[in-house]
Amino acid sequence: MRALVVLVGLACLAFVAEATGRVAGLSLAGYGLSGKLGRGLLRLESLQSLSLSGNNFSGDLPADLARLPDLQSLDLSANAFSGAIPDGFFGHCRNLRDVSLANNAFSGDVPRDVGACATLASLNLSSNRLAGALPSDIWSLNALRTLDLSGNAITGDLPVGVSRMFNLRSLNLRSNRLAGSLPDDIGDCPLLRSVDLGSNNISGNLPESLRRLSTCTYLDLSSNALTGNVPTWVGEMASLETLDLSGNKFSGEIPGSIGGLMSLKELRLSGNGFTGGLPESIGGCKSLVHVDVSWNSLTGTLPSWVFASGVQWVSVSDNTLSGEVFVPVNASSMVRGVDLSSNAFSGRIPSEISQVITLQSLNMSWNSLSGSIPPSIVQMKSLEVLDLTANRLNGSIPATVGGESLRELRLAKNSLTGEIPAQIGNLSALASLDLSHNNLTGAIPATIANITNLQTVDLSRNKLTGGLPKQLSDLPHLIRFNISHNQLSGDLPPGSFFDTIPLSSVSDNPGLCGAKLNSSCPGVLPKPIVLNPDSSSDPLSQPEPTPNGLRHKKTILSISALVAIGAAVLITVGVITITVLNLRVRTPGSHSAAELELSDGYLSQSPTTDVNSGKLVMFGGGNPEFSASTHALLNKDCELGRGGFGTVYKTTLRDGQPVAIKKLTVSSLVKSQDEFEREVKMLGKLRHRNLVALKGYYWTPSLQLLIYEFVSGGNLHKQLHESSTANCLSWKERFDIVLGIARSLAHLHRHDIIHYNLKSSNILLDGSGDAKVGDYGLAKLLPMLDRYVLSSKVQSALGYMAPEFACRTVKITEKCDVYGFGVLALEILTGRTPVQYMEDDVIVLCDVVRAALDEGKVEECVDERLCGKFPLEEAVPIMKLGLVCTSQVPSNRPDMSEVVNILELIRCPQDSPETELG
Ligand SMILES: *[C@@H]1O[C@H](CO)[C@@H](O)[C@H](O)[C@H]1NC(C)=O
Ligand SMILES: *[C@@H]1O[C@H](CO)[C@@H](O)[C@H](O)[C@H]1NC(C)=O
Ligand SMILES: *[C@@H]1O[C@H](CO)[C@@H](O)[C@H](O)[C@H]1NC(C)=O
Ligand SMILES: *[C@@H]1O[C@H](CO)[C@@H](O)[C@H](O)[C@H]1NC(C)=O
Ligand SMILES: *[C@@H]1O[C@H](CO)[C@@H](O)[C@H](O)[C@H]1NC(C)=O
Ligand SMILES: *[C@@H]1O[C@H](CO)[C@@H](O)[C@H](O)[C@H]1NC(C)=O
Ligand SMILES: *[C@@H]1O[C@H](CO)[C@@H](O)[C@H](O)[C@H]1NC(C)=O
Repeated sequence: MRALVVLVGLACLAFVAEATGRVAGLSLAGYGLSGKLGRGLLRLESLQSLSLSGNNFSGDLPADLARLPDLQSLDLSANAFSGAIPDGFFGHCRNLRDVSLANNAFSGDVPRDVGACATLASLNLSSNRLAGALPSDIWSLNALRTLDLSGNAITGDLPVGVSRMFNLRSLNLRSNRLAGSLPDDIGDCPLLRSVDLGSNNISGNLPESLRRLSTCTYLDLSSNALTGNVPTWVGEMASLETLDLSGNKFSGEIPGSIGGLMSLKELRLSGNGFTGGLPESIGGCKSLVHVDVSWNSLTGTLPSWVFASGVQWVSVSDNTLSGEVFVPVNASSMVRGVDLSSNAFSGRIPSEISQVITLQSLNMSWNSLSGSIPPSIVQMKSLEVLDLTANRLNGSIPATVGGESLRELRLAKNSLTGEIPAQIGNLSALASLDLSHNNLTGAIPATIANITNLQTVDLSRNKLTGGLPKQLSDLPHLIRFNISHNQLSGDLPPGSFFDTIPLSSVSDNPGLCGAKLNSSCPGVLPKPIVLNPDSSSDPLSQPEPTPNGLRHKKTILSISALVAIGAAVLITVGVITITVLNLRVRTPGSHSAAELELSDGYLSQSPTTDVNSGKLVMFGGGNPEFSASTHALLNKDCELGRGGFGTVYKTTLRDGQPVAIKKLTVSSLVKSQDEFEREVKMLGKLRHRNLVALKGYYWTPSLQLLIYEFVSGGNLHKQLHESSTANCLSWKERFDIVLGIARSLAHLHRHDIIHYNLKSSNILLDGSGDAKVGDYGLAKLLPMLDRYVLSSKVQSALGYMAPEFACRTVKITEKCDVYGFGVLALEILTGRTPVQYMEDDVIVLCDVVRAALDEGKVEECVDERLCGKFPLEEAVPIMKLGLVCTSQVPSNRPDMSEVVNILELIRCPQDSPETELG
């Protein structure tokens, strides 16, 4: 049999043998040969063994092949043969012992005559397309040691009488469509070592004869429809190494006798209806490696062997096990994977787990574990997967996080707080990170961009703030990055990943911007400015002595901290609400009834009078003369207050009319006389019931005075924060004040005047409680509308200032007044200042209100000093309106005229039943 030449034609094979002409064995396995088997083969009369496996032979199987008188072994597995196995192939066999036709495309019935080939010792017809029932005499093959018919489409019941196969060692009928019950006498095949009947439709109970299979090492009955208990006698199958009963309908308890199976390596009982506890005795199975009892109805506690035996992989997921997870100290555990998910475990996560140095995967998700995450767990060197999703964990993510093998970290759906530690960047192997549905705050650490393997990141539904680190766009493998429902702001990082990120992954971050989000980015990140409340050091005016130097210093130091904290002032109720509101209020003809007509004739200029060689002009008549000289009247005793633009004094005109006089402190910056007069006259024309009327002015190059109507009731700031309870404001009064302010601002905006300097001390109350807004439009008197000057002028306006003042590139529009109005409205309803300084903390009013809204506890933040009751159906929408007005993005804030309309709707909910402002 040397020099064997093989010619492979398309249609036939020709074998030219050596001189003797007698070929006993032919093995051409894995040569990549193709073609069909021709009759030429039959000339090799002495052939005993033929193996053509792993080629690409196709076509039918020659019927006569089995007739070769000496052929004992035929292996045609893993080719492309098709068609039915010919009749007579087995019926005429002579010496055939080992036949494998596995892994072809044979179809038709399992050959009817297979039982006639009594010499067969092994028959492998697996992975074909054979159908029909098993021939009833198949069990008569009593020389047969292995039968493999797995992976076909064989139907019908298993024939009776399998115990006739007294030589059978291995029976594999896996993945067919066999029905009926297990043969009762299956345990009477004395040599049976391996039984695989998995993935069929076999029903009924386990036959008791099985207990006699004491040499059986492998029993797989998984994925059938078996019912009943697993009897105690299963412990008699002493050689079992694998017991797989998963995916059946077994019920009752798992027998403790399994603990006696000393050779057992794999125990798979998942997906049944087992009840009761997981036996402690299983710890006695000294060889056990793999245990899967998931998807049952097991109760009781976790047996100690899970963390204290040679077991390497354990899953008890989807049961109702409860109690604490106990891990013995210094456990000599070998465990590599533990899945305790979807049970009812409670208590803390034992930090002793970190002593199990072999642990690679720990899944404790969907339990009721509480407490914090033990710092030692997140730094375990071997740990690759940690899943603690959906528990009741609190505290923060330990800063020790840094396990170098960790690929997957899932901490979603807990109550974790605090910041994402920057050390997360040390998780160099991390591919998947899920921290969603927690209460995490702070910024996304830039170090995340160090984790080059990162593929999926879910940080959604937290309270993260700040911008996205630019370096994120360098992550090469990123597939998913969900940051939706946070309070992030600024630009999406550049780069193709973020250009194509689905909107749903970034939505509900009111401060995020970019083309993707249809909102253009300001050049500078918009942050609300929270400025120093006590600073009177106006850089443009005389420095004034500070009563308490220490306090002054302290507050200056905290400005940067305040700005940072202010970044948290973002809106969550936001855009949706306002869209709804916008839609509702666009009804024409409902302009404020209180609006006064302006007539040109109203402004009549009275004769100019020379007071100290200056120019005094009074609008609309009135005796222009002061009762005292200008200098005398502007003394401390008459001082009413100070603001960014000057000091206000009270005096009376000659005719007895009281007026408030504002001495502008910014003289050196004031425009030329002409421009000054033009602007002041503009302001003088603005008559409105809710505006403090400007009655006239006085001009000299070195002194400018503005003459206002005197409003008797003091300012709102005093009323809200400094007055006694006896002097409190009712809900209606507060509502009226809010509405009054809104109307006055709408009026100003209609005349293209921006107030610029809203705050509660600029809102005066007249004798009847009407709000009158003062100090409007004064910024226009400055030579240029310089942002720096503006913010320094109004820097006492702590917390009222819109974030765009901090951004050079954002145009300042009347929307900055809307912001101030929003803060004012909240202040009036809650009685709290926009920003409150605590010992070592700053409380931002908008945040307090938003949190109360989120929790449905608005009533708790309404001013306790409010007189009488208040209607919640008004309080909630006004609070929401206030928050919408304080949106970070100016375009998200409504117009003042819309605000007026909304307020009127809120006031009379019964008149407009379709409004849904709650
Ligand atoms: C096997 O043969 C068929 C034709 O009979 C051919 O289409 C197929 O590509 C071949 N496969 C391999 C792996 O050679
Ligand atoms: C049957 O043949 C397949 C494919 O060659 C092989 O994987 C399987 O182990 C064989 N079965 C037995 C029982 O030897
Ligand atoms: C399994 O057998 C039951 C009857 O024992 C039958 O109702 C069911 O349709 C079968 N399922 C399949 C997938 O053949
Ligand atoms: C655990 O092991 C450590 C060191 O291996 C030892 O110091 C300690 O005493 C052990 N604890 C117990 C309870 O055995
Ligand atoms: C942990 O278990 C849960 C529930 O059984 C499963 O959905 C999740 O995929 C598992 N986690 C990991 C990382 O495999
Ligand atoms: C987040 O905190 C708020 C209150 O601070 C609480 O109501 C909410 O349930 C928390 N969310 C989570 C997911 O823990
Ligand atoms: C990780 O990120 C930080 C800040 O982004 C950077 O300073 C550091 O060099 C990075 N480390 C590595 C190993 O890339």
